[in-house]
Amino acid sequence: MNIILLGPPGAGKGTQARLLEEKYGMVQLSTGDMLRASIKRGEPLGLEAKKLMDEGRLVPDDLMIRMIEDRIQQADCQKGFILDGFPRTVKQAEALDAMLDRHHKNLDAVVELKVDEDALVERVTGRFTCAKCGAGYHSNFKPTKVEGICDNCGSAEFVCRPDDNPETMKTRLKAFHEQTAPILPYYREKGLLKSVDGMASMVNVQQSIEAVLKSLRKG
Ligand code: AP5
Repeated sequence: MNIILLGPPGAGKGTQARLLEEKYGMVQLSTGDMLRASIKRGEPLGLEAKKLMDEGRLVPDDLMIRMIEDRIQQADCQKGFILDGFPRTVKQAEALDAMLDRHHKNLDAVVELKVDEDALVERVTGRFTCAKCGAGYHSNFKPTKVEGICDNCGSAEFVCRPDDNPETMKTRLKAFHEQTAPILPYYREKGLLKSVDGMASMVNVQQSIEAVLKSLRKG
């Protein structure tokens, strides 16, 4: 099964994609994570993207389309994938349709996570990640069990994303409303759009997404 998780910054796409990956073995394809890995490796693509990402603006469509087309052809994607952060423009959505056709793959559903705007800012500004193993936390909603120590690897070093601040969040939300939200009618018309309440707890959001996946298997 191949799905898209769609929602504004901080909606919980990454959190839910990782849960689905663990439980069902589907592969999470996060374009944000791919770009951040490219920046870390000092690649030209990452360097080109970094300034835009730090400002909260979108990276050019052509770069993103090429990145995803390379990735979906890899062997692990045969198990099914979860697109997290792609597509983000109508041009990317159209390019995705064309590439899925070229590679004889289907899109089964587009799951929209609906979250109030005030909650998004709180979610993003409270987020931090273990610098060693990458485990994700939130100061209020998912704190470490022992303060200052990663539950997963025991490291005491954490990092925050440079774009996770209230000022950049304004630009990211503007990009979502102006460039990404127009994708919703695009998928609604194709009968693929399913909306879930992203304001619920992480466990309840996961259950709602699983209910969507179950209904698809039955149909
Ligand atoms: P990207 O990394 O994709 O960021 P984003 O879309 O802004 O999404 P986030 O990662 O901030 O949020 P999320 O929805 O994954 O939420 P999360 O699960 O972490 O993109 C970054 C940048 O890269 C873009 O701005 C752009 O420049 C560029 N880019 C990437 N893809 C691109 C593309 N296709 N085209 C062009 N440019 C592109 O959750 C957030 C926090 O909330 C966490 O701390 C979590 O613990 C907490 N949380 C999650 N769920 C819940 C819940 N139910 N209740 C309470 N807390 C919760």
